[in-house]
Amino acid sequence: MTDEPVSPSRRGFLRSTALAGAGLVAGAASARAAGPDPKITEVQDWASSFGDAVDAAPYGSPIRFESHVVRRNVEWLTESPVSSINFTPIHALEGTITPQGCAFERHHSGAIELSKQDFRLMINGLVEKPLVFTFEDLLRFPRSVTTAFCECAANGGMEWGGAQLEGCQYTQGMIHNMEYTGVPLRLLLEEAGVNPEGKWVYAEGADASSNGRSMPLEKAMDDVMVAFFANGEALRKEHGYPARLVVPGWEGNMWVKWLRRIAVYDQAVESREETSKYTDLMPDGRARKWTWVMDAKSVITSPSPQVPIRHGKGALVISGLAWSGNGRITRVDVSLDGGVNWQPARISGDAKPKALTRFHLDINWNGEEMLLQSRAIDDTGYLQPTKDELREIRGLNNVYHNNGIQTWWVKADGEVENVEVA
Ligand code: MTE
Ligand code: CO
Repeated sequence: MTDEPVSPSRRGFLRSTALAGAGLVAGAASARAAGPDPKITEVQDWASSFGDAVDAAPYGSPIRFESHVVRRNVEWLTESPVSSINFTPIHALEGTITPQGCAFERHHSGAIELSKQDFRLMINGLVEKPLVFTFEDLLRFPRSVTTAFCECAANGGMEWGGAQLEGCQYTQGMIHNMEYTGVPLRLLLEEAGVNPEGKWVYAEGADASSNGRSMPLEKAMDDVMVAFFANGEALRKEHGYPARLVVPGWEGNMWVKWLRRIAVYDQAVESREETSKYTDLMPDGRARKWTWVMDAKSVITSPSPQVPIRHGKGALVISGLAWSGNGRITRVDVSLDGGVNWQPARISGDAKPKALTRFHLDINWNGEEMLLQSRAIDDTGYLQPTKDELREIRGLNNVYHNNGIQTWWVKADGEVENVEVA
């Protein structure tokens, strides 16, 4: 179930282990015993000749040994690849920042190519003076920088009925986390002057779908950004070049790409039927609406079905991600036995509000089966629920907002499977 190719260096590593292994006691995080390892004792090819010159790749790509770390889609999920989604390889990433090149994409009518010269952003509706900004105009407003996760409301949607897909790339990978630079939307709205009767801000994109969405004025004036840089460089085409909305903590659908219009209204409007489908159908036939905030959630990214344990028992690094659209992650607990016992994991690095947070737990694996789980707690005191707790309230008709606890069954041979515990 793993998609990692066996690279030459990996084979070398395994061989040297076999050579040195005889006298080794498997201890916690032990280094390999020094032995007749040709990787140490012999001069290697890469030390006997020159490497690439500096201009071999004016804009670099990952080394070929990492070519399996890519977005992937699930073909049966959608009818057409232009109105579709792919998944971030979160199982193979570390830290918290998602490189743009492998950050999931969700388009309703394909990723369009819109140049800075062709870009126009209009602000109209209930404003004192309707305005049209060029890209150059945006560059002259004061900027801010913020790191935020963008999670599609449908993330985990295929798992409502039960464990289905083998890998957190597919079960939790409709998410990315980037550091954005742009103009606070508040500054642009203030420039146009919002009339007192203006209560809602409607944003639409330049693509055929437009993905028009309404948000309350309070959110628009709070932390929403018109972003043009992500992770220090221009947005990629697929993420809305040259400018997109960043709506921290709120579902991905609000993060309008290829932004073209902001309209102030006295009520919420929806552009196309497609976008008004973002409601959560409840068991009694009623639908939850305006469920914009993404509740706290977490997942163990390694080990996981795409990252089985290959090194046998002993030291094991458990690594995972946690996030909350309501604020900061304050604690992540890990269970090795399907939720019977819990222990706190280590939060590694910063726990920024409305951003991915990395946690680690270092254990000494005894080689026995485990039912690995993690649960996130945010600074509102919210505790990530189990999938059954969610189903009890929301039923099974629903696709969106599945933030239930994920279970990985780690088998004695180190293989990992997506399961649920009763
Ligand atoms: N904006 C436009 N203009 N068109 C779209 O199809 N898709 C939305 C949102 N913004 C969409 C859009 C959805 S449903 C999601 S989850 C996010 O973009 C995904 O952003 P990404 O493609 O950068 O991952
Ligand atoms: Co979405």
